[in-house]
Amino acid sequence: MRNVIIAGNWKMNKTFSEVEDFLDDFVDELEGTDHAGVEVVICPPALYLELASDYAQDSTFFTGAQDVSAHESGAYTGEISASMYSSMGITHCIIGHSERRKYHHEKDSLIHEKLQKLLAEEIVPIVCVGETLEEREAGITRNVILDQLKGVFEGISFNDPIVIAYEPVWAIGTGKTASPEQAQEIHAIIRQWVKAHVSPAAAENVPILYGGSMKPENIAELISQPDIDGGLIGGASLDAKKFIAMVKTAVEM
Ligand code: 13P
Repeated sequence: MRNVIIAGNWKMNKTFSEVEDFLDDFVDELEGTDHAGVEVVICPPALYLELASDYAQDSTFFTGAQDVSAHESGAYTGEISASMYSSMGITHCIIGHSERRKYHHEKDSLIHEKLQKLLAEEIVPIVCVGETLEEREAGITRNVILDQLKGVFEGISFNDPIVIAYEPVWAIGTGKTASPEQAQEIHAIIRQWVKAHVSPAAAENVPILYGGSMKPENIAELISQPDIDGGLIGGASLDAKKFIAMVKTAVEM
């Protein structure tokens, strides 16, 4: 049985004091919640990772970054390497988010390099894939997802933990969630790809999260699908009450 993962991607939100307020509230609530079988990950802006991982030391959530450099060290102004994260106890890292693909022109080949850097540091990558609205309307969603999987995971063994997140771009921050059936269809395609190109065991073990306007009102119907193993949550993860409500729903299922 795969664990369920409830991960919050804060993107570029919150001031320092807002982060403290969130974590104070959240850690209190999480302490009173038996969430065996449900892993909780919070991915704040890099500046707050140290603070979040300090809270995580006395709590039961993991701390994740939102991106990583494809380089090891050196003259790369503004970048943060995987070894820097691991030296600070950061356990997870999102890569390939559609906002990085769109605003920073990241391609699958670069995401593949980032993936290798994370795996070398034993940081769990949360690798995002997803189609745009134009691609869905053109009926090429399946091919887009398969191309992304091939480009990012070619030659990757899956011997170390890897998480995949299906985030349809048209559902991110739009309030428009994929229906459980739409999401399940793509999750099954992703799992099938891993089965065919890596191994049946890897396919069985890889958690595949859904992301895109997931919230307390729709999480249950999404994660009750057989191939949806949790969520990568943006907007609704910024509110400690909503985020803990989603953790609790996952626990109850
Ligand atoms: P929203 O939950 O705000 O739609 O964002 C999803 C997302 O991009 C998580 O990485």
